[in-house]
Amino acid sequence: MYEYHRVMEDLRIAYDRASAERRDAAPKAGWKMRERERFLDLLQREEMKTLLEVGAGTGQDSLFFQQHGLRVVCTDLSPAMVDRCRAKGLDARVADFLGLDFPAASFDAVYAFNCLLHVPSGDLGRVLGRIRQVLRPGGLMYLGVYGHEHGEEGLVSDDQHPVPRFFAFRTDARMRDAVAAHFGLVSFDAISLDRTNGHFQSMVLRRSGALREVDLLLRETGATRSNADQVLQVLAVTAVAGAQSAAAEASGVDPPLSLLTRYLIAVWGAESPSELSGDPPRPARISRRPCSSSSSTPASGSSSTSPLHPPRPRR
Ligand SMILES: C[S@@+](CC[C@H](N)C(=O)[O-])C[C@H]1O[C@@H](n2cnc3c(N)ncnc32)[C@H](O)[C@@H]1O
Repeated sequence: MYEYHRVMEDLRIAYDRASAERRDAAPKAGWKMRERERFLDLLQREEMKTLLEVGAGTGQDSLFFQQHGLRVVCTDLSPAMVDRCRAKGLDARVADFLGLDFPAASFDAVYAFNCLLHVPSGDLGRVLGRIRQVLRPGGLMYLGVYGHEHGEEGLVSDDQHPVPRFFAFRTDARMRDAVAAHFGLVSFDAISLDRTNGHFQSMVLRRSGALREVDLLLRETGATRSNADQVLQVLAVTAVAGAQSAAAEASGVDPPLSLLTRYLIAVWGAESPSELSGDPPRPARISRRPCSSSSSTPASGSSSTSPLHPPRPRR
């Protein structure tokens, strides 16, 4: 059906210079400004410092976060959009969601406003997985897209873009399932807008980290923090042993320590390599029971039409 790279090439043409100029000149809706303020508030409460915006468009939101003290990098597939971002003094790069070229765990937070609705549903999991990699364990992601009561995706033509754009409007259930495979759901709010069969799906997601997992276990078992350290160390030693034997089997040579450390961070999501050092671990006796994840119940969407409503997809 629709394929990510094909869709992306058309979007690059659609989001051209004229589109960038028009978008930059348009006033931002009040509810969109409230969304980014709400996310900023969360980031400040958790003392987060770095943010990546994907599908940043002309960079208005990135500029807002930068002006509020965050170190921001923004990306977009459209060179015209990236030029607009740079003109605002932002560190902006041309990159699509699957081509994010940052080391693992580079950012405390990711902001994705109204851009993942350009990803075909069959590719959404891959895209979320890639974004997750550049977010540090424990980091937060804002994901906001227009949703649809029944779900529909396809090409939309209008007079404002030179070629039709692909949109995927997904049901709440579909979105929840898609994100659950990669993130913990901190909140899901359905913002009622004046749209036919739809609303805005506003999500805050968290990449879980090993320490948080251990904290959850601690709460469940009533164990102490020193037990938690032991659990982490046991996990680390197990991972080292696994990596060493895999590498030794492949090449007959022991892997360098830095490679092992990176492996551990990738596998266990440990917050820093220093957590992996220390005295030799003694196994901790902790029984794992299923953890419940927290999420808020969405409000229901509304129905009718407005200028905010993008044209309905042509099938
Ligand atoms: C509707 S605009 C939203 C821009 C901005 N987030 C805002 O709210 O003003 C969607 C943006 O996503 C970008 N985009 C679409 N597909 C993308 C992809 N696969 N990778 C990176 N950017 C993409 C487009 O170039 C466009 O700038």
